[in-house]
Amino acid sequence: MATHGKYGGVVPELASREHLRAIVPVVRLALGQAGTSFDDLAAIAVTEGPGLVGSLLVGITYAKSICFARNLPLIGVNHIEGHIHAVILEAQETGAIELPAVALVVSGGHTHLFEVREGYTYRLLGRTRDDAAGEAYDKVAKLLGFGYPGGPIIDQLAPHGDPRAVKFTLAHMKGNKLDFSFSGLKTAVLRWVQQRDLAGEIEARRKLQNPSIEDWLRWTPKPTLDMLASFQRTVIEELLLRATASAEEIGARALIISGGVASNAGLRAAARSANFPCPVYFPSPALSTDNAVMIAAAAFVKFRQGSFADLTLRAQANLALA
Ligand code: KG4
Ligand code: ZN
Repeated sequence: MATHGKYGGVVPELASREHLRAIVPVVRLALGQAGTSFDDLAAIAVTEGPGLVGSLLVGITYAKSICFARNLPLIGVNHIEGHIHAVILEAQETGAIELPAVALVVSGGHTHLFEVREGYTYRLLGRTRDDAAGEAYDKVAKLLGFGYPGGPIIDQLAPHGDPRAVKFTLAHMKGNKLDFSFSGLKTAVLRWVQQRDLAGEIEARRKLQNPSIEDWLRWTPKPTLDMLASFQRTVIEELLLRATASAEEIGARALIISGGVASNAGLRAAARSANFPCPVYFPSPALSTDNAVMIAAAAFVKFRQGSFADLTLRAQANLALA
């Protein structure tokens, strides 16, 4: 965050350099904290895509090296499947999630709805036609002079505004009714900003050094707080509307909501009070944003199936889950 924050988003070249710098010490630290060593491992799992190719390559090369040196099997994991398995893993502590389920994966790069079937096979039900939900949060935050990532900041500011103050309209989808669109909302926010003289408050926020939420609040007048609350309400309505329709369409027995945006407090509260046709599962906040636990959880299914990769495994920036 410290590296990318000042650019208002992830810079691919800097990300791969950071991966290269961090990967060996991070793995060493993780093994140490878990009280284990390379000798105890049964396999190495690694993300093969989707994602930034430079960062994927660092992980894949390192994983292959360990497998080659230690004679361990290699498992390639789809990042999106990881987000889904973060929820499946945690739910197992109180009983398994019933299938078929609908999985809503909402992150900085994805807003996708999948049907999760027996044996963990997937069918794409709907997806965003333009921006991902997290991307919309980040772009709105950047436009208004807030830091990166924008999601957590807007989420914390939203309860201080009136979510009904600005009437944003939900995207009207032609064709697949389970698809999303966030570019219209983003443009509506841009227009709202352009119709006002916000240069002073935006500049004041941009100048803040390591601001706390109290600092953001001090430099954000009520009309802007109202707009942010209304933006967040509209995103949440859009997400839950299509998730509910998907659950009804396939007769889902569970709804899984995962990915960075799943840590949104407003989304969690709205999902709890909504009238869903089935139980709703979220990951704990720590497993909502990108993490390695979710990759291991998805890999464990493949490990039991004996579904291993070989050293020809490639980074696939646009790898699809279904
Ligand atoms: O899953 P993730 O960690 O990385 C990707 O695979 O993209 O998701 C990061 C995204 C960012 O766009 C960030 O702004 C958003 O998740 N995010 C949130 C919240 N926390 C993270 N969006 C809304 N509310 C949050 N509390
Ligand atoms: Zn992710």
